[in-house]
Amino acid sequence: MSIKKLWGGRFSSEEDPFFSSFNRSLPFDRELLEVDVRGSVAYARALHRAGVFSQRERLSVEKGLRAVVKDHGRNPGLVDKSTAEDVHTYVEQALAEKVGALALRLHTGRSRNDQVATDLRLYLLEKEKKIEGRIRSLLHTLCDLAEKSAGIVMPGYTHLQKAQPVLFSHYLLSYAEMLLRDLGRLNEARIRTDVCPLGSGALSGTVYEIDREALARDLGFSAVSANSMDAVSDRDFVLDFLFFAGTLQVHLSRLSEDFILYNSGEFSFLQLDDSVASGSSLMPQKKNPDSLELVRAKTGRTLGHLVSLMTVLKGIPMTYNKDLQEDKEGLFDAVKTTEDCLRMVQLVLERVRINPQRMRESAKLGYLNATELADYLVAKRMPFRKAHSLVGKIVVRASELGLTLEEMPIREYQNFSPLFADDLYACLDLQKAVDRRKELGGTSTATVKKAIRALRRKIRK
Ligand code: ARG
Repeated sequence: MSIKKLWGGRFSSEEDPFFSSFNRSLPFDRELLEVDVRGSVAYARALHRAGVFSQRERLSVEKGLRAVVKDHGRNPGLVDKSTAEDVHTYVEQALAEKVGALALRLHTGRSRNDQVATDLRLYLLEKEKKIEGRIRSLLHTLCDLAEKSAGIVMPGYTHLQKAQPVLFSHYLLSYAEMLLRDLGRLNEARIRTDVCPLGSGALSGTVYEIDREALARDLGFSAVSANSMDAVSDRDFVLDFLFFAGTLQVHLSRLSEDFILYNSGEFSFLQLDDSVASGSSLMPQKKNPDSLELVRAKTGRTLGHLVSLMTVLKGIPMTYNKDLQEDKEGLFDAVKTTEDCLRMVQLVLERVRINPQRMRESAKLGYLNATELADYLVAKRMPFRKAHSLVGKIVVRASELGLTLEEMPIREYQNFSPLFADDLYACLDLQKAVDRRKELGGTSTATVKKAIRALRRKIRK
């Protein structure tokens, strides 16, 4: 038994071959084959409960559907050979090969509109779970590296100018915080994905006694859509995912940018492992951080997909329009890109070699302890604004002399203020400067240690 089209009834002329290929989604929505079948299995059960299928018919459809997935697993090339318009048509045709005319009754009360919306949600729920696992794993890697790097002081920057000394671990945990927020956004997206549209029909609901609550439960959904028109045309959950994924990738891109800089000869704070770098075809000395450059660049894809789908959705009249078929390729690509970038960054972090000496040396140059000097004067009751301006002048003097603040003799300081005494040198120590920031959120050794513990607890949840 074979079915050509799902909707041939009112058509008298053949489709133009170019239109056919323009219109087809099978080449990409084949990605939904398994979830499409899952949806159909549950729908067959719902039809049985509604009295449309006998028990025997339901079992036969279910068996046929499972065989379709099995065939596909064994031979994905079967889909390549098919001329079906989309994955739903393909599955129905393949089912008809197995169970004959019974396959044609599976679509009773169902439309591809509620079907595709259901498929996409089932697909995304699976991916969201997987991506959540990857983020948690990357978070642990960040914590591991932060633990391994305990006590390493580096220059902290603003405007890419040396600003104040910080712990390298503290710097790493800043990215862990971003990823934690990403987990929160992912969870929000997941909640909005976790709604079952099946049973909404083409747009107005179903005339069959489909127990939508039971159907949703059967598919593992936590909620049922409340309005059939919204249900078949809502793709907000995809936007939510793309916003989450875009933000996550912006974070991964920033981390990549930092590491690309820190890996450069000019910084040399760290070194990427050979296994995640590549050479130049011309310059034999080069080792390029391609892995991270690609993570940085691939962010653009997901951001593009977000804008693209927003644009697709903004103008479509209620309810389903074929425009909605354009939701898939971008989403699939964003899912893959997100998974790949998370994996790539994790690999880089697991194998990176840190250069604590270089970080410390760099933190010693550039007057990163100037703020400490101002705080020293403030402790001696000088108003901060005044201290700030005075230290500015002291820094100019020190750099004229080619000295660091630690190296400049006390008499030079005393030319600026009688408040200076020999104890000023103790406050200039970088480690002490770091450890003075011991309030919540600061960079002191003890605070960072606690922060790692708190993070581990949150990651496990
Ligand atoms: N391939 C279509 C899509 O992805 C399936 C839904 C088709 N529905 C329709 N009324 N033509 O959106």
